[in-house]
Order: sequence, then C-alpha cells, then structure tokens
Amino acid sequence: MQLRFCVPALFGLEGLTADELRRLAMADVSAENGRVFFNGTWEDAAKANLWLRTGERVLLVLGDFLARTFDELFESVKALPLEDIIPKNGAFPVKGHSVRSRLMSIPDCQKIIKKAAATRLGHAYGLNMLPETGTLYQLQFIILNDRCLLLLDTTGTALHKRGYRPAASEAPIRETLAAAMVLLSRRRGDRPLCDPFCGSGTILIEAAMLASNRAPGALRHFAMEQFDNADAQMFRRLREETLEVLTPFEGPITGSDMDPAAIALAKENANRAGCSGQIAFTCAPFSREVLPDSGIIITNPPYGERLGTEVQARALYAQMGKVLAEGPNLGLYVITPDKEFERVFGKKADKKRKLYNGMIQCELYQYRQTARPAKRK
Ligand SMILES: C[S@@+](CC[C@H](N)C(=O)[O-])C[C@H]1O[C@@H](n2cnc3c(N)ncnc32)[C@H](O)[C@@H]1O
Repeated sequence: MQLRFCVPALFGLEGLTADELRRLAMADVSAENGRVFFNGTWEDAAKANLWLRTGERVLLVLGDFLARTFDELFESVKALPLEDIIPKNGAFPVKGHSVRSRLMSIPDCQKIIKKAAATRLGHAYGLNMLPETGTLYQLQFIILNDRCLLLLDTTGTALHKRGYRPAASEAPIRETLAAAMVLLSRRRGDRPLCDPFCGSGTILIEAAMLASNRAPGALRHFAMEQFDNADAQMFRRLREETLEVLTPFEGPITGSDMDPAAIALAKENANRAGCSGQIAFTCAPFSREVLPDSGIIITNPPYGERLGTEVQARALYAQMGKVLAEGPNLGLYVITPDKEFERVFGKKADKKRKLYNGMIQCELYQYRQTARPAKRK
C-alpha cells in the first residue's frame, strides 16, 4: 500500500534530503521549507530510517486538511481511520506546532486533536476510556497557513542520534549537519580528508560512514519496530543488507584537536561507529603539521560564541588563512557564524551556503583551493 511520508530536515538541507530519498528510489519526492515528502511502503519507511544521513525523522502522514476552526480540526481528525494504525491499548500522545495560522494556541490544538483521536478510537474499539498502556504511537501536528498535517512518528529518538555518540565534547555539531557538509563537499572516497578542529570526531565519522557506504541507522532501533504491525523479519533483512553493501574504504581521513579529552572521545565514538581503523586522530594544536599535502578540510572551528571569545576565534581564522595561503593546496569547507570570516581568513569563498548549527545561523564557506598563487616580483 502506498503511504505518504514527511521528513523534517534542518533549514537549508531540504534539497540534500530530497536527493538522498531519490537515491533510495522513493517515489514522488518533493521538498518544502524544512521538510521533504515521499510516497512509499512501510518497508520504504524502514529504509529511510536506516539510510537517511541528513533527515531528522520519518513521519507517516495520517491526514492533510484545512483547519481554520477548532470544529474543523476536531471533525477532520475524527474522520481519519486511526484504528488502522493505533491498536486498542496504544498510547497516542500529541505534540506539534502552528505557524501563520488562525489556530495558534498549541495546548488547545493538542487537546482538540487528542479528544478527536480518542473519540474515533473509542468508537472503533467500543470503549469509553482507552487504556493507553501499550506501544507508543507519537502523534505530531504541523499547522501552517491553516493547513494541518497530522503525522505519526516512525523514528522515535531523532535520526541525528546515530548511536555512536552517547557523549560529545564541547559544542559538537549535529550528525545530520556534519553529514550534509561532507555530502556538499562532493568528496570522492579516495581524496584525503582532514578536520583540524575535530572535537568528538563527528564530521570525520560521518565521512568515513559515507565513504564505506555504512548505513547511519544500522546501530540503533526505531519507534516503528515496536508497532503492532511491525515486521521484525523485514527489519532483520534490511539490517543484514546494510552489511552486504559495505564498500572497502579508500582515502585517508585524519583529525586533530588540541583538547586531549576530545581526542579520547573521538576515538571512542569512531570505535562505536565501526570506523576506528579508518580515521587517524592526533592531539595537536592547529598548524601546517596536522594538514595533509592534498585533499580537503571540512571543519567546524570554534566560533567564540560557545567556546572561547570572538577575538580568539578570529586569531585562529587568520592563522588558518596564513597557513593555507602558503600551501598545501587544499579544498576547504568551513562552517562559522562569523560574517567577517572571509576578510579575516584573507580570501573570498568560491561559494557560500546558509545553514543552521542548532539555533546559530552560520555560513558554510567553500573554497576549491586555499593556496594563493605566488606574487610576481
Ligand atoms: C566547535 S568545536 C568542534 C566540534 C566538533 N565538530 C564535534 O562535533 O565535536 C571546536 C574544537 O576546536 C578545538 N580547538 C580550539 N582551538 C584549537 C586550536 N588552536 N587547535 C586545535 N583545536 C582547537 C576545541 O578543542 C574544540 O574541540
């Protein structure tokens, strides 16, 4: 049966998530602000959960209707065949948000949707009170411009929690954003990659997983595996397939950081992710010595907002600019909120892309090559 799914994505990453879904052969993929839709089966939802690197979760679209009044919201939810999905004892909490719409009160929308769903399920099961003692079926609503999407979360803990980073060093980057930076660099598997401010190793681990075609969700479980209609055998098969498609790993990946605790954590994380043999970590401050002779740098340096001060961060950007101007000639993908980065670094980026790191609006500055041609005498 064809179902419709919605994948929320970080602002600026929707196009990448849509590309990922097309590569997974999902049907009718379309991107909107902050989310991407596709059509598919329960098996496709399982595949998306296992394989998406940049999406945040996979939500089943239960309903898509106009909700200009509470009556309209109540009746539209009550009309949905929720009993096809939620069993007699299923727990179905409701959460969500509303933007640019007449129904702005989130607690009221939550209450109305809960009441309508309980009325529908109560009728279907011949119960006045639903026990809600069983499996969790988390309902979510998004009301945008008076259009309400009612969704069921098939993911559970968000997809950026891969399972390899139980703890992170200070100011870690979200795994989905790290994966997006690697995808945007279009790095070929054999090209040396370096992150000289690697912290807990997120960018490098995501790059290693991508280079070896490792499924980012293979280490964890998803809410849909607990559903009454869950097909444990199908999940087992899909997990086995993730091992069959692993590819040998090529280019050297190196990371360094001046904080020994961060390097220790990065090693542990890489180990958990199954890529410990593929990344060489060094504890060292930034200098020419930590960089490869060719390849690319993908990095999330200190911003001076969460770590240190802006002056310190800029001193580091200037140092990077100086070191990289003299060679080696590397590509550079650096994410920072500093609007003055190019000036301080000393070179204009070939391309920029607006991305959010948590709540911080950043720019991904992209350089095809960092070395400046030698000046003629
Ligand atoms: C924003 S954090 C990187 C977080 C990383 N992307 C992650 O996911 O964990 C910046 C890192 O730069 C490191 N750092 C700061 N100054 C440095 C320097 N001069 N040389 C090397 N590392 C430095 C800090 O120890 C910190 O781990």
